[in-house]
Amino acid sequence: MPAIDRYAVFGSPINHSKSPKIHRLFAEQTAQSLSYEAQEVKAESFDEAVSAFFAAGGKGLNCTVPLKELAYRFASHKTERAERSKAINTLALQADGTILGDNTDGCGLVRDLLNNHRIMLAGKRILILGAGGATRGILGPILEEAPSELVIANRTVEKAEGLAEEFECLGSISGCGFETLSGRQFDLILNATSASLSGELPPLPEHLLADEGSCYDLAYGNEPTAFVRWGIVQGTQKSLDGLGMLVEQAAEAFFIWRGIRPQTYPVIDLLDRERKSR
Ligand code: ATR
Repeated sequence: MPAIDRYAVFGSPINHSKSPKIHRLFAEQTAQSLSYEAQEVKAESFDEAVSAFFAAGGKGLNCTVPLKELAYRFASHKTERAERSKAINTLALQADGTILGDNTDGCGLVRDLLNNHRIMLAGKRILILGAGGATRGILGPILEEAPSELVIANRTVEKAEGLAEEFECLGSISGCGFETLSGRQFDLILNATSASLSGELPPLPEHLLADEGSCYDLAYGNEPTAFVRWGIVQGTQKSLDGLGMLVEQAAEAFFIWRGIRPQTYPVIDLLDRERKSR
């Protein structure tokens, strides 16, 4: 009997990862026989751990903090969106024995916004807070939706400007500091800073969010993040966190590995109900 197909997520810290649960639910739903484990892997042992995993017959890996840039360097070939984001969250063993690297984060975010929350991006004014790896991973898929403008605001202004320059061939994009946001308005504000994980917020001016506008934090937690709370104070009905993005990026990885697209809504709903009952 052939051995069961093995998948895993590598990262550090990894003990609170929801990925094993999400992928097991996907496997159950689509009647796929596979295993998916979480493994603590630090940056210094990344190459060794990945090589050992595939040498032992592993079929695919997710890589999370702080390993996405290392995975980018490891993959023998990469999708275009992975090339652009310079980070990889999904490695997949190919039929010829090579390892393909992809980044499903941006696509996961866009699917969550469009399909689960009916937040349209075409023709909209979009602001992204932060100019680190998380922002880089979502710029391509957002620009593909053709917003009327995309502004990146960051504490270190040069990083926002540099990213905007790099992606300007894909659409209308610019970079700035937080202080120059006064008097401007956006239909969608995305928080991609790491600030909200520690309960902090970048300094944001009044009236930044347009009427009927939405807020979305790429981070998520059992409690609303500082940015989700900020959105609620601004009066929006849609101040969301990144739980849906987490499930959607996992679904895209599952599709790459298994060729089947699982339904995401039942999984998002289950995880959301679980965290609310804690
Ligand atoms: P990630 O991969 O999660 O994007 P990162 O590459 O370290 O992590 O980027 C973190 C982002 O959060 C950066 O844009 C950072 O701003 P700087 O580029 O100026 O460092 C932003 N950030 C972190 N803490 C912040 C805070 N307290 N206020 C505002 N921005 C913050």
